[in-house]
Amino acid sequence: MLDQRRKQLLDAMGIRRWVRRDLPVEALSEPGRTVKTEVTLPATPAEVPAAQPATDWEALRAQVAACEKCALHASRTQTVFGTGDRNADLLIIGEAPGADEDRLGEPFVGRAGQLLDQMLLAAGFRRNQVYIANILKCRPPDNRNPAPDEILACSGYLASQISMLQPKAILSVRGVAATTLLETGQSVGKLRGEVHDFGESRIPLVVTYHPAYLLRKPAEKAKSWIDLQLLMRVLRGVA
Ligand code: URA
Repeated sequence: MLDQRRKQLLDAMGIRRWVRRDLPVEALSEPGRTVKTEVTLPATPAEVPAAQPATDWEALRAQVAACEKCALHASRTQTVFGTGDRNADLLIIGEAPGADEDRLGEPFVGRAGQLLDQMLLAAGFRRNQVYIANILKCRPPDNRNPAPDEILACSGYLASQISMLQPKAILSVRGVAATTLLETGQSVGKLRGEVHDFGESRIPLVVTYHPAYLLRKPAEKAKSWIDLQLLMRVLRGVA
């Protein structure tokens, strides 16, 4: 049975509670999604100065704050490094800071962030119990999609964050985050519903819709809840 708090949170997310929790996740997911994918961050080409492999959070934060590897440094208010528990089991990876994040220096603090917080609570996590980071540490102007050279320039920072965190699972929200991490052109709709393996440590990675997309398409929230259930099973070691 769902407890009262989770029911309230699912209500707040706008999710109807008709999904049976006693069904195995495979049955809740779309069919034919059992293939595991080996994934790595993109290789850094010679012309992009690689981030020093950081072993120290504060050193990495300072590197990011001083970064001028791509043009986004010129228009940012500040870098958005990441936030949360540096010993967290769960890493959430979004795409890039928006206007609110650029102003406040923290990922997912706008309306989409509030929905992300509710989604996390529904999965049993307070925001400060997970780690949240983006593919890009600077805001693309007018919230446009990150450009490939920007993703490449920033990729070493996220790789260092993942290497220091060694999370038990990664939740990737939004297409750009998923396609960057999985090096594929497939949509979130195609990538969700299965557990991918990230990098050499084969960290389990689940893909779901971006909360901003869910705000625009509330009907998709039920699918996102299925993804969160899959994630919870991964974290419990039963998926
Ligand atoms: N969307 C993202 O992908 N990341 C943020 O930090 C905010 C909105």
